[in-house]
Amino acid sequence: MITIQALSGPNLDLLGLREPDVYGTDRLEDHVHAMGQAASAHRLELVHHQTEHEGELVELVHEAIRGESGAIIINPGAFTHYAWVLHDALAAFPGPVIEVHLSNPAARDSWRSTSVVAPVATATISGLGGRGMVMAVDAVAHLLA
Ligand code: DQA
Repeated sequence: MITIQALSGPNLDLLGLREPDVYGTDRLEDHVHAMGQAASAHRLELVHHQTEHEGELVELVHEAIRGESGAIIINPGAFTHYAWVLHDALAAFPGPVIEVHLSNPAARDSWRSTSVVAPVATATISGLGGRGMVMAVDAVAHLLA
């Protein structure tokens, strides 16, 4: 069975508590549960990690590379906007990379308009809340089929 990695960056552990008007009231585990169900329906195994740390997120990408994961779905949180080290790590991943944001960063503060991840992503899904995370699983299943 193909394994896909779902990676969540900083502050996403606070979903449900954090700015619910922006990010909704569902918790991260609710989103991961929905993604896992979508993955099972596509006969994919979903593994999820969340971290507050830039280097740890890079190491998780390395693990996905070394472990030959089929795809990466990543919400890098604020690292999206400046973490070139994450850009480089994701550039080394041979499979599909889907960048996901619950909100639409381009419609918010101007500093959120830059994504250093987008140039190395296969696709970006923004502004659809948790639905976008499930859509990312469906997109990966399509790309790996
Ligand atoms: C986010 C958008 C980012 O700008 C922000 O820093 C986050 C969450 C989103 O999912 O909408 O932490 O990635």
